Amino acid sequence: MIEVVIDAMSRQGAGNLAVELVRADGQALPAFEAGAHVDVHLPGGLVRQYSIASTPADTSRYVLCVRREAASRGGSASVHERLRVGQALTISAPRNLFALRAGSHHVLVAGGIGITPLLAMAHQLQAGGASFELHYYVRSRGEIAFLRQLQGEFGARAHLHSAEEGRDARQVLPAALDAAGEDHQLYLCGPGAFMAHLREAALARGWNAARIHSEAFTPVAPLASAEAGADTAFEVALASSGQVFTVAPERTIAAVLAEAGVAVSLSCEMGLCGACLTDVVEGIPDHRDTVQSEAEKASNRQVTLCCSRSRSPRLTLAL
Ligand code: FES
Repeated sequence: MIEVVIDAMSRQGAGNLAVELVRADGQALPAFEAGAHVDVHLPGGLVRQYSIASTPADTSRYVLCVRREAASRGGSASVHERLRVGQALTISAPRNLFALRAGSHHVLVAGGIGITPLLAMAHQLQAGGASFELHYYVRSRGEIAFLRQLQGEFGARAHLHSAEEGRDARQVLPAALDAAGEDHQLYLCGPGAFMAHLREAALARGWNAARIHSEAFTPVAPLASAEAGADTAFEVALASSGQVFTVAPERTIAAVLAEAGVAVSLSCEMGLCGACLTDVVEGIPDHRDTVQSEAEKASNRQVTLCCSRSRSPRLTLAL
């Protein structure tokens, strides 16, 4: 846990609030790679994951940006209503599940507040002299976050598309999707339907799924179970001790293990953050998270204990 203080706050387009965090003791914050997020412990006991939007080259501060969501589960409302400059907060160390990959060209596509990790990526790619372009889709120009930075630092590499001007992702796709080089990489962050549309469009144009990377910060579908009541019990075994526990339909693996005194690290408890990812030794998970890519899920190498279940009668974990 890191003690931080809110050093500044600024409006970043309609509905978005940027929050600048510095360490309470004045030291540098931990280094991070573009795409990383931190868990922020908010007033009222909520813990939420927010991507770092600022450049990894500057560890004196982390800049987060939060959109006020109409259907807030409490996190965005708490940020917008209860945070003030000078306030102390606790955050986790940065965690990165959305890292840049090696490639000769990088296409960054943001929908709305999905700009935050992609902005950090643009900073990192620019600093490293890499080839990239950033596409940012918003409903209206007034909602663009970090507008001055985007125009000032990235110039023609930043493409701003406003739905109000007839340029939503259904009408205008980045031309780069049509010209996928062998090692080009595509990064998507935004609402679930937006990412699904871009992903489909890219796959239809010949992109290899392994070169499409995305991160969601809201559950794509109800994660507990799409069909309530359809879950069945299964067993989890611990590879180290051989202990076996039964996970009843209405319980999570994490809850069963925690009750038995097994240390499980948890944060979002919704399959969004990756804190509970655990190696699988044997068995086939029923993945319910949005943390892992489709390829990672298919490899069955890891499982999120907070929300995933098992397709096999028993799941043996590297615990
Ligand atoms: S606690 Fe966040 S993915 Fe499980």
